[in-house]
Order: sequence, then structure tokens, then C-alpha cells
Amino acid sequence: MNSIIVYGSHYGATKQYAEELSKRTNIKAISFRKVNQQINDYDNIIYLGGLYAGGVLGMSKTIKKINNISGKKIIIATVGLSDPTDEVNKNNIRNNIKNQISKEVFEKAEIFHLRGGIDYSKLNFAHKTMMKLLYNAVKNLPEEKQTAEDKAMIKTYNKKVSFINFSDLDKIINEVQK
Ligand SMILES: Cc1cc2nc3c(=O)[nH]c(=O)nc-3n(C[C@H](O)[C@H](O)[C@H](O)COP(=O)(O)O)c2cc1C
Repeated sequence: MNSIIVYGSHYGATKQYAEELSKRTNIKAISFRKVNQQINDYDNIIYLGGLYAGGVLGMSKTIKKINNISGKKIIIATVGLSDPTDEVNKNNIRNNIKNQISKEVFEKAEIFHLRGGIDYSKLNFAHKTMMKLLYNAVKNLPEEKQTAEDKAMIKTYNKKVSFINFSDLDKIINEVQK
């Protein structure tokens, strides 16, 4: 079985996970920006994407390039700031994924969640503005109305934080080697 790791990363957290996964599995990792029709040559496709307003960066664009998914193994891993061990948060991420890919791919894919980080000093203008709007919208909500995502954002707003934990790759490696 030949395999490939494809990643969508703006600021590097997802790329770091993809490169570490590549090192540990000996599977080549490339950015989704470099993916072409050759993706069809692979049986196992492992997609890692940063979460941006619920969207998995580059995922649907990459999956659309696969002509026929039957016989292929698809693994999707998201990398976000919010805590994926929170059940509500995990369900939100999964529901968002469902809306970004076909039912067939969603049902077939094994889905995992990793935690990334954020460095506000590195964000581009559009992302900074988006975070400011989001922050202003949720900061005064009563705590019981704040989601795990809101809480993570409020706690880390304007800071530099990293929750990258390479040992969380173990579960993905197990799935790859199944
Ligand atoms: C504009 C913007 C939107 C984001 N939206 C989400 C989100 O919906 N859920 C989440 O968990 N994290 C969100 N994040 C945090 C990123 O997913 C996190 O920084 C991740 O590590 C980014 O991966 P990258 O460094 O590979 O680009 C957002 C960050 C930015 C700047």
C-alpha cells in the first residue's frame, strides 16, 4: 500500500505535526497546495488540516482531486486551538467536517483531532481582524453560554501559546499501520 500525508497549514502547527508523522512513518508529507492528480496513485491518504472558522484548511480541495475513493483509506486529522477532548467541541468539529466533504468520504474517513497553537504577533491582517471580531462577540457572554472553543479563544487572545503534543500522533500512527 502506498501512502501520502497531505497538510494544510497557515502558521506551521499542522506542518509540524505532518512532518513529525512523516518522520515516524516514513510516509512523504506535502502541502495541499502542491497536490495534483497524482494523489490518485495513493491507496492511503492522510490529511492533516488546521481549523479556520470551522473549516479544515485545504481538505475539501484535496479530496475533490480524488477520482474514486473506493479501495482507498482516508484519514483526516484536524489541528485547532480548542480542546478536542471536550465532547461538544469534538462534535462541532465533526459536524463541520461533514459539511465540507461528501457523505461517502465522511463515512469512510477515520477522523482524529490534534491541538495546535496560536501566535497573535504572526497573524495576517485578515486573521487578526477575524479573531478580534470573534473575541468581541464572545468575551461578555455568561460563562455557561461560552463553548469550549470560545473559552480557548478568550484565554489565549493576543498571546502566543502552543498545545502541540507529538504523542497525540500515536493514535494516527496506529490507524495508519492497521
Ligand atoms: C482566523 C482564525 C480562525 C480559527 N478558527 C478556529 C476554529 O474554528 N477552531 C479551532 O479550534 N481553532 C481555530 N483557530 C486556531 C487554529 O486552528 C490554530 O492556530 C492552529 O494551530 C492553526 O494551524 P496552523 O498553524 O497549521 O495554520 C483559528 C485561528 C485563526 C487565526
